[in-house]
Amino acid sequence: MNAVTGLRLKRLTTAVGAVIEGVDLRKPISGEAMRFIRQALGEHGVVFFRNQALDAESLWAFAENFGKPHKEEATGTDQDRPSDVVEADMRMAKSSTAVWHSDTTFLARPPKATLMRAIRPPEFGGDTCWSSMYAAYDALSEPMRAMLDKLSAVHSLGRFMARTGAFGVHYAQTMGANHPPERVHPVIQIHPETGRKALYVNEAWTTRILELGPGESDAILGFLFEHVKSPDFNMRWRWEPDDLAFWDNCAVQHYAVPDYTSERVMQRIVLAGDEPRGPN
Ligand SMILES: [Fe+2]
Repeated sequence: MNAVTGLRLKRLTTAVGAVIEGVDLRKPISGEAMRFIRQALGEHGVVFFRNQALDAESLWAFAENFGKPHKEEATGTDQDRPSDVVEADMRMAKSSTAVWHSDTTFLARPPKATLMRAIRPPEFGGDTCWSSMYAAYDALSEPMRAMLDKLSAVHSLGRFMARTGAFGVHYAQTMGANHPPERVHPVIQIHPETGRKALYVNEAWTTRILELGPGESDAILGFLFEHVKSPDFNMRWRWEPDDLAFWDNCAVQHYAVPDYTSERVMQRIVLAGDEPRGPN
């Protein structure tokens, strides 16, 4: 237990994930507790809080300790308020989230973090998996890391649309109205707080590596998309009502297992991010 904050941290795996206990997020948190949580998030990529019966206002107030909340990256504006946060049945988005990804990386400034609270999760199924992009990077050979450090990649709304059918077309219309459909980001991102290197290409959004030929790009991306799926870097969370997950979109990718047919009602907001920065 942390003597100052009273918080306890229990790691879930070596690579990724930790549960934080000893805090009621409906109440204001101290500066010390905030630093504890921020550090745990940067280090472990995703942190979980159990039994947090938060309404939209208290979720928003908690998120504001760590950045600027938006109701969701698709439609968020600077004018968003807690009352804009909606509960959504994730069944609709099942096809779009069953792929390893970091959230909306086709944006110039993808959200730095995402908060998701289970309201009515399925009785079974509907788990979410997270994979450490620090561990995925660290597990590569030195020559591979040295090469990737120098590269940049295109992230595209088109790839998402092609994969997700009618849902993707509707989503792309909403998103495409407000944002350019493609963005180039470094293949390796330097985490803005921990300074660690993290793999930053993902199967949902990344289409090609700019500096490589088409065949080379396809081969390297194909390898990396498989690489992040290794159980060595992964954890899996079984949702209970009032679980809150808070993840860092640079340090981890995630995958929502689509093995459910009943409702899966979740509350979700994201924190505004900056442009990803690479090693160069
Ligand atoms: Fe996501």
